[in-house]
Amino acid sequence: MSSDSAAVAIDTGDLPFGGGMLALVRPALDLLEPGGVLAVLTRQAHAIDEFGTWCKVEHHELLESANQPGGVTRILLRKGSLGAPRGKLEDGLDLKSHNQRLEASQMLAAVPLPLTADPGTGFAPRGARVEPGGPVYPYTINDLAHAAPPDIAQLYDQAISAQWNADTDIEWGKIKPLPRPMQRALGQVFTFLAENELSALYVPSRFIARLHPHYVETAQFLATQMMDEARHIDVFLKRARIGGGGVGISHATTSASLHSLLVLEDFTEAAFLLSVLGEGTFLDLLRYIETHAPDEVTADIVRRARADETRHVHFGMSHVKHALASDPTMYTRLEAAVRKRSATLAGVGGVPYAVQDSLTILAAGGNDPASVAKGHNAFRELMEVMHDNRVKRLLTAGFSPAQAQTLSDLHTPNFM
Ligand SMILES: [Fe+2]
Ligand SMILES: [Fe+2]
Repeated sequence: MSSDSAAVAIDTGDLPFGGGMLALVRPALDLLEPGGVLAVLTRQAHAIDEFGTWCKVEHHELLESANQPGGVTRILLRKGSLGAPRGKLEDGLDLKSHNQRLEASQMLAAVPLPLTADPGTGFAPRGARVEPGGPVYPYTINDLAHAAPPDIAQLYDQAISAQWNADTDIEWGKIKPLPRPMQRALGQVFTFLAENELSALYVPSRFIARLHPHYVETAQFLATQMMDEARHIDVFLKRARIGGGGVGISHATTSASLHSLLVLEDFTEAAFLLSVLGEGTFLDLLRYIETHAPDEVTADIVRRARADETRHVHFGMSHVKHALASDPTMYTRLEAAVRKRSATLAGVGGVPYAVQDSLTILAAGGNDPASVAKGHNAFRELMEVMHDNRVKRLLTAGFSPAQAQTLSDLHTPNFM
């Protein structure tokens, strides 16, 4: 074989074999496919012996060496396949920023999501070449259909630019004391919200560790969702306590309903029950509280939370529609999940009474009987609005009108 057949040639000058030569040789071999030939020029006369040993250990093949004028030795190596990292070297990828920004959607376009992912690649970032021999990780969400909807990077980009600060963005100092019944009602409403927000924080956390990192944009989005929920818990409990209202009752109905979310094992079922049905219903509840808020700060808190929830619902809808499109049997599975949850909650009555009463008092703006009658009507209208909007979301997801009606009726009286 002549040195002309080498695909890549490098000059290592006077570098000793153990003194830096390999730092030039190894990256040059990385450019080759297994079987490719590398020519190494060296002025180290003994390098050939050390190459021989090294090639055996690394499973490369030493082909030949030839002395050249000027004390130069030319060594030819054939790259071995054993132990070589799998995949192609990422080369020539140059992301361009737009207006000083570099968005996740550009990253995803440059390094697309795979249809399936191998749990043996561990935490290797998508695009990395993976050396064989690492352990198999306990990921269970390893396919695109169930791991990442098409707009996941855009959702993550939106989420990181929409973060707000529970400490400094809310004008806490502007909150004035309210009459006692209103204060208690608000305390109860925000206790209920915080309890549901806790479930929305915990449920996604169960799926991050099961999700293959090649779909990292979904894990990143879920992390923003968890940060959102942590902030909602923060502001809701602060609002419950500022002004002397205090937190109220946690009902068994609420507890049973949220427990049935926490024990879900399937990511798509969880996205459907938590985000499409639960957080979807919460959008209407938050709008109701904003409409009837006793002050601008309270309205601001729930308005901000609703903007975040809108993203969570959007993710849930995208996830579920994407999974349904690639696997139509999911319709039956999701319907079964709603029915199973409803059966689990059989015997659980209507909306928890303290929640019902406090939402009524909130809309009444006080506790005189005439206002309470109006508050009661507002609460009843809320139930209808929630049902109508759930049906609309189910229709958008692709369920039939009859299925949408039934599933909306079966949804938990706890709202989430
Ligand atoms: Fe939330
Ligand atoms: Fe949420």
